[in-house]
Amino acid sequence: MSDTDDAVLEITGGTKLSGHVSVSGAKNSALVVMAGTLLCSQPCRLRNIPHLMDIERMGEVLLALGVKLKRDGDALDVNASSIAHTKAPYDVVSRLRASFFVIGPLLARMGVARVPLPGGCAIGARPVELHVRGLQAMGADVHIEHGTVHAYVPGSGKRLKGARIYLDYPSVGATETLMMAATLADGETVIENAAQEPEVVDLANFCRAMGARIRGAGTNTITIAGVPRLHTTDYGIIPDRIEAGTFLVAGAITRSEISLSPVLPEHLTAVIAKLHDMGGQVVVDGPSRVRYVPGSVIHPVDIQTGPFPGFPTDMQAQFMALMALCDGNSLITETVFENRLRHVAELNRMGADIRLNGNCAVIKGVPQLSAAPVLATDLRASAALVLAALAAQGTTTIQGLQHLDRGYDDLEGKLRRLGANIRRQVGDSAIAAAPLTESLLNSR
Ligand code: UD1
Repeated sequence: MSDTDDAVLEITGGTKLSGHVSVSGAKNSALVVMAGTLLCSQPCRLRNIPHLMDIERMGEVLLALGVKLKRDGDALDVNASSIAHTKAPYDVVSRLRASFFVIGPLLARMGVARVPLPGGCAIGARPVELHVRGLQAMGADVHIEHGTVHAYVPGSGKRLKGARIYLDYPSVGATETLMMAATLADGETVIENAAQEPEVVDLANFCRAMGARIRGAGTNTITIAGVPRLHTTDYGIIPDRIEAGTFLVAGAITRSEISLSPVLPEHLTAVIAKLHDMGGQVVVDGPSRVRYVPGSVIHPVDIQTGPFPGFPTDMQAQFMALMALCDGNSLITETVFENRLRHVAELNRMGADIRLNGNCAVIKGVPQLSAAPVLATDLRASAALVLAALAAQGTTTIQGLQHLDRGYDDLEGKLRRLGANIRRQVGDSAIAAAPLTESLLNSR
């Protein structure tokens, strides 16, 4: 049982928000960059690491492999000079899909890796065959036995070989696994139909800061010239575009003006375009600062999720909450994950009028949502319920906070500072995410 299983959030809606939000470092970058530190036998310092349960779990995976970690505020010192084990522990991998990312760097550096299959998750089956096929193309022998992926590099040199790899789908995780693996390979690797997400670019920049030779990250073709070893670096993670997008929607749904920094607007092009179409304005106040200015009406829009630069699946649930209050009908088509519309039932319990048809949701705008007890089903669904509750009449109680704490750094604190009426009611055994992160990462 998670420490937050018995906690609930109580939100009394209808309050206008105002003020400024400091956006944390990007969860998805931080997770993969932490895995990427396994590539380097010298200590590295990572900055702008958010305080999240997922980060703590990735820390547990690294600790289990023999890596030393020291948390210092938003910084994390990682010393992977000696890797004692090449098998990732099942109990952690099963709770954090991103921990599968260690397979690429472990294999590249040690010539061997054993990582349990991450299994399904709330939003879909999420297989890993693209990761596996790419590693095989680079010369790895990979087989799956008793639920664990066993991978090793045959031959005496234990070094992967550069290869030309075409991904059937621009998977973020597969692109990241293969890019990391290729940094230490013998020869050149080309990943075609690569994911172009900002987190892929961040990982490439981190690897380059350690001496990797990578071109084309952020386009659909990434070329990596392998080098024998990487060196120490001090690297700052990009701001979290999904956290920023969530707060922009908080502004929109409460018809409030709020400002955010640091934000890289080019990471939010699709989100900003849709907010404009819905009648709000996102004003860029500086190179890393934006401000949401509400319009008088929320107009309906249609959204189809897709790989970057398409509309992010990680913002779909939050937009659905906003569309629930539109002046007309909206349509959402989810193309990335097959089971990512489970928040529909909970939003309907709050008075929304949403019908599901396969991977499409038809949202008929209603004038008002009403508070209800609701259950968060996954990370972004939790955020959607928080947003809906901010606008709803009455006090909403949200259960299932373990999802929220996985991916939002102090969401309720940040909302409270904007004036939201939000509080966490904690059971006897519950502990806030941030202090736990500090204590665990420094304990071993
Ligand atoms: C990452 C993000 C997640 C985001 C997603 C899409 C992290 C930790 N998580 O997840 O927040 O929602 O990108 O932007 O960075 N697929 C296969 N075979 C594979 C790999 C993927 O079929 O080998 C499928 C998945 O099942 C899914 C789709 O491809 O339907 C997209 O997955 P992918 O881009 O790999 O997402 P993740 O890396 O898991």
